[in-house]
Amino acid sequence: MKAKVKAGALRSSLAQTRRRIYFTNVNTVLEITDLSVEYPSREKGVGKKLAVNGLNLKIQAGEVFGFLGPNGAGKTTTMNVLLGFVNAKSGSASIFGVDVRQPIARQRIGYLPELTYYYKFLNTEELLRFYGTIFRIPGPELERRIDSVLKLVGLEHARKRLIKTYSKGMQQRAGLAQALINNPDLLILDEPTSGLDPVGRMKVREIIERLKGEGKTVFFSSHELGEVETVCDRVGILNQGQLKVEGRVEDLVKQYQCHLEQIFLKIIGYEAAS
Ligand SMILES: Nc1ncnc2c1ncn2[C@@H]1O[C@H](COP(=O)(O)OP(=O)(O)O)[C@@H](O)[C@H]1O
Ligand SMILES: [Mg+2]
Repeated sequence: MKAKVKAGALRSSLAQTRRRIYFTNVNTVLEITDLSVEYPSREKGVGKKLAVNGLNLKIQAGEVFGFLGPNGAGKTTTMNVLLGFVNAKSGSASIFGVDVRQPIARQRIGYLPELTYYYKFLNTEELLRFYGTIFRIPGPELERRIDSVLKLVGLEHARKRLIKTYSKGMQQRAGLAQALINNPDLLILDEPTSGLDPVGRMKVREIIERLKGEGKTVFFSSHELGEVETVCDRVGILNQGQLKVEGRVEDLVKQYQCHLEQIFLKIIGYEAAS
């Protein structure tokens, strides 16, 4: 009798563990494990330079994650690994459980690069039709998607205007529309608000909030600590290729007893001039 009860308990605990593993995997959208990336150094006499150094990161479905760090910290390099543009020296990364070295891993992602160079002689509608065709989205479906992403980024009124006549903020939103045309589940945005004025930044922030409302996962890099504080579920601070801190903003603020900006400065070793 005792043995039977024990076996039953063991079976149920095993089933629980299996369920936990299953759900952990289903909910993990992005997983980076011990990732290191090396470049030939630009400095004389130094052979190689570690741009990313043993990075571990897990992002769950529906999260907005702010990837912070000073210039040269390794944010773009990390994203470039996820996009298959750069190879890792060691470690691995997967998107929806698929290793990023397999192109299929990128099927469900949308990407906004740090610098966008679009065909400025196109209007946004044409730009989106061009990208939609690359994704082989059928005609009527593509027209519906174009309407919906233009609405989401607030460019419906300017859809027939040449991109070269847009302000920087509008160009950035056209870039976001392009990143959204394949209806991705994960968005990778490299400094989406950099160089924008406060209104432009606010608009991008609102778009990120709308995307979150639609259940999308957003992984974005930024320097704008104030906006990161308001829009992110979690943040990570990268310095010299290493993740120094990771967690919910409110938990970090409690732990360090100061604002995110001060935490950031502390982490990167900035000493105020006295
Ligand atoms: N193609 C490259 N060749 C050599 N070094 C590079 C290259 N790209 C980036 N780096 C170096 O790698 C480090 C990380 O850069 P990057 O990932 O662009 O940082 P971030 O996006 O955080 O500003 C920097 O020291 C940068 O100079
Ligand atoms: Mg960068």
